Amino acid sequence: MLAPERFGICAAGTKSGKTMGCVIWAVLKAWGKRKRVGWFAPSYSQAKIGYNLLKEMVPAHLRRANDAELVVYLPVGSEFHFKTAEKPALIYGAAYDLFVIDEASRIREAAWHAIRSTITQTKAPGKIIANAKGKANWFFRSWRLANEGRPGWSCHRISTVANPYVDPLEVAEARRDLPERKFLELYEAEFFADAQSIFGDISCRIDKDIMGMPKRGRAYVIGADLGKHGDPSVCIVCDIESGQMVSMAIFPLGLPWDQARKRIARIATTYNDAFILVDSTGVGDPVLDEMKDMSVRVEGYKFTNETKDNLISALMKDVETGQISWGDWPTLSEEMQDFQATRLPGGAWRYAAPEGAHDDTVIALGLANWARRDRKTKGSLLYV
Ligand SMILES: Nc1ncnc2c1ncn2[C@@H]1O[C@H](COP(=O)(O)OP(=O)(O)OP(=O)(O)O)[C@@H](O)[C@H]1O
Ligand SMILES: [Mg+2]
Repeated sequence: MLAPERFGICAAGTKSGKTMGCVIWAVLKAWGKRKRVGWFAPSYSQAKIGYNLLKEMVPAHLRRANDAELVVYLPVGSEFHFKTAEKPALIYGAAYDLFVIDEASRIREAAWHAIRSTITQTKAPGKIIANAKGKANWFFRSWRLANEGRPGWSCHRISTVANPYVDPLEVAEARRDLPERKFLELYEAEFFADAQSIFGDISCRIDKDIMGMPKRGRAYVIGADLGKHGDPSVCIVCDIESGQMVSMAIFPLGLPWDQARKRIARIATTYNDAFILVDSTGVGDPVLDEMKDMSVRVEGYKFTNETKDNLISALMKDVETGQISWGDWPTLSEEMQDFQATRLPGGAWRYAAPEGAHDDTVIALGLANWARRDRKTKGSLLYV
């Protein structure tokens, strides 16, 4: 807390004494001087926590306080202004000689920009403190910059047990009650990535010349992801030998199953009697059964957490090593770029598009790739 750098970025466990520590730091800095202190919290009620702590700490005869405005006046002329950062636009305009941002990981980046403007002329020092809360926020970015040694920035991590006023047995019990990742985040101030894009920059995998009609003598596979709740069905055709995706069809939303089946079968016939691997999870199961009665070669792939992991891991590896490539198809490229792995509390990964986005083309490519691998290595198609 007393680090001399202008900005102190502190990730700390819950009840580690963050708020109290910052009140003490600011009082030490402002005592007997004429300093304007800006204290920012995510909400009015959280700003009031700091305000009340300061009032409790300084004997009543040594300070004046304005409960309506959340301002505390200390001897000689220092003023502490406790503010909510809910509306960043209202932060602009003031100027402070010291600042504290409490619960910074719960404050929007726009508020940090506004606060930064209030300390520019004064070159005020300050403390930015918070619980760790994922990596996709300005607090983590600032903490990392400080950690990398940015001049004038100091970086700290404090765990809850560092506070002698917290019972270590209580912390041990919380460890038993909470998922490990949650515990490490809340009590040890460890940062975890919320989700990460897994295919990285895929632009180099796009091969503009490969979309095309079936060639005589080539063997193909088809990956078919069936649309379920408002998603379209998607069919992707791949050349087994070269790993090139040669065609993609996105069916209209709400296309009846019997028509979807016929279209998939027609594509298979067109591409030299291509082998079809179809998503047979849930409603896909009867569709698979009915396709088996048609004159096509088809197998099913049932999704569970484990089989999805297998399918996506194989796709990741083959994209990385150039075993599979695809045409300049914006929908697929976008979905590949968006596709994310999210760490679950138990440590497993969950693969999916971010909320509101689709991943049907990624799954169809994954299925085509799975079928292609199998045809290539074993000469037959395993199904799960
Ligand atoms: N220096 C100190 N002297 C006395 N008590 C302290 C001190 N630091 C912390 N405490 C005690 O620990 C409690 C937690 O401190 P504080 O509220 O500052 O933690 P915090 O990390 O801000 O917690 P939260 O995660 O809830 O925001 C305080 O209510 C106080 O009782
Ligand atoms: Mg606090």
